[in-house]
Amino acid sequence: MQNNADLPVKTLYLGEPNPRQALFLMDKHKYVAFGGARGGGKSWAVRVKAVLLSYRYPGIKIMIVRRTYPELRSNHINQMKELLSGLAVYKDSTKEITFPNGSVILFRYAQNEKDMDKYQGTEVDVLFVDEATQFTEEQFNRIKACVRGVNNFPKRIYLTCNPGGVGHGFVKRLFVDKKYTIGEIPEEYSFIRSLVTDNKALMKTNPDYIRQLEALPPKLRKAWLEGDWNIFEGQFFEEFRDIPDGYITRQFTHVIEPFDIPREWTIYRSFDFGYGKPFSCDWWAVDYDGRAYLILQLYGCTDIPNEGVKWHPDRIFSEIHRIETEHKWLKGKQIFGVADPSIWDASRGEAIIEAADRNFVYFDKGDNKRLPGWMQCHYRLAFDENGYPMVYFFNTCTAAIRTLPLLQFSERIPEDLNTEQEDHFADSFRYFCMSRPIAPPKQKESKRLYDKDPLNLYHYAAV
Ligand SMILES: Nc1ncnc2c1ncn2[C@@H]1O[C@H](COP(=O)(O)OP(=O)(O)O)[C@@H](O)[C@H]1O
Ligand SMILES: [Mg+2]
Repeated sequence: MQNNADLPVKTLYLGEPNPRQALFLMDKHKYVAFGGARGGGKSWAVRVKAVLLSYRYPGIKIMIVRRTYPELRSNHINQMKELLSGLAVYKDSTKEITFPNGSVILFRYAQNEKDMDKYQGTEVDVLFVDEATQFTEEQFNRIKACVRGVNNFPKRIYLTCNPGGVGHGFVKRLFVDKKYTIGEIPEEYSFIRSLVTDNKALMKTNPDYIRQLEALPPKLRKAWLEGDWNIFEGQFFEEFRDIPDGYITRQFTHVIEPFDIPREWTIYRSFDFGYGKPFSCDWWAVDYDGRAYLILQLYGCTDIPNEGVKWHPDRIFSEIHRIETEHKWLKGKQIFGVADPSIWDASRGEAIIEAADRNFVYFDKGDNKRLPGWMQCHYRLAFDENGYPMVYFFNTCTAAIRTLPLLQFSERIPEDLNTEQEDHFADSFRYFCMSRPIAPPKQKESKRLYDKDPLNLYHYAAV
């Protein structure tokens, strides 16, 4: 390990902040939230502010918190090690950087309750919680309790945030709605908005990132591109369109009349099993352009209370097998199956997959990452610049068409959907989409809303 005293003299170049980052670097409120949208240069600003404070106040103790260790490493530790190489010493065993002037930056994560216990006894002067909306208010309060101590160093708490996440509600309350409760002093809170468009460095190196945000349906685009905190309510798949005569043009609709599937198209089967709830088995045909069509659906309830089991697993899978051996679109074809990974779970007795195997119905495990999965569903549903989506539903698939537009946003995790609703087809759709992920489609120029000056809308930004 290197000793501070042996460090050679080296010039530190931190780079140039953009105007929003500069506001963040200069802000002296006790609580400062920075962000509002994705890719605004938040983590960069956290690192630079932590380094500036370390030099400005010799002996200060700073902590940077992120939810998981891999995120902490890839967003902060790696960059800080590089930035401060030869100037300060990083110790992996303690995950701390020590400066020759005695200042220390601690890197900490908090993925579960056990990690939270580690904060007890830690005392710091300045805390940065990066992506604070990934924490619940209770977790945030426990981490915040580390900011204490009797010395003359400033005591500050910095948060970076995007709309969405389990902490959406408390961050919005404190910094956007500015509704305070007893013990909270309004003058101590400041909010600085930064949008991805403020991050010229990223816009230059990764213009695709903007394209991805623009391809989102309006509510998510408003949240992640424009930094709107009021949007996670109402219909989850707001882009879903069922235009009765849509089959004539197939433009700006997702629901079409069935047609005979060319034999050459690939067939997929996605499946979501509900314990005591509906199951959804969905057959998709994919054309030469990668466009998917929901062609057939088997949907039913696995167990109706007081009526006995209607659709026990063997009946479901033997029916799936029958359809696949008899239906003209499916018989004789190779079918790629993907299913809810929980059907491999044997902790409640025989795993459901055993019944599938027994009936010659085979599946790969679906990817159950929810938010990336919903993104894939949104990318598929998005209309391209000519009004064509990457997924259509035959109007005979009534459970899909009925349930998809009914789903609502979750109140608990704002950018997820409310899982207490009939989301079985949606889950099956998600497994299918994740098995064949696509890039977001190109949008029309007119959708570029980000040129508006956000300051006109957000007079409460700390300027
Ligand atoms: N002022 C800046 N100068 C140079 N590069 C920057 C600047 N601000 C951000 N970046 C770069 O832009 C990318 C995204 O910034 P980051 O801070 O990770 O965004 P966020 O945390 O808001 O998602 C990173 O590669 C980061 O290093
Ligand atoms: Mg970041």
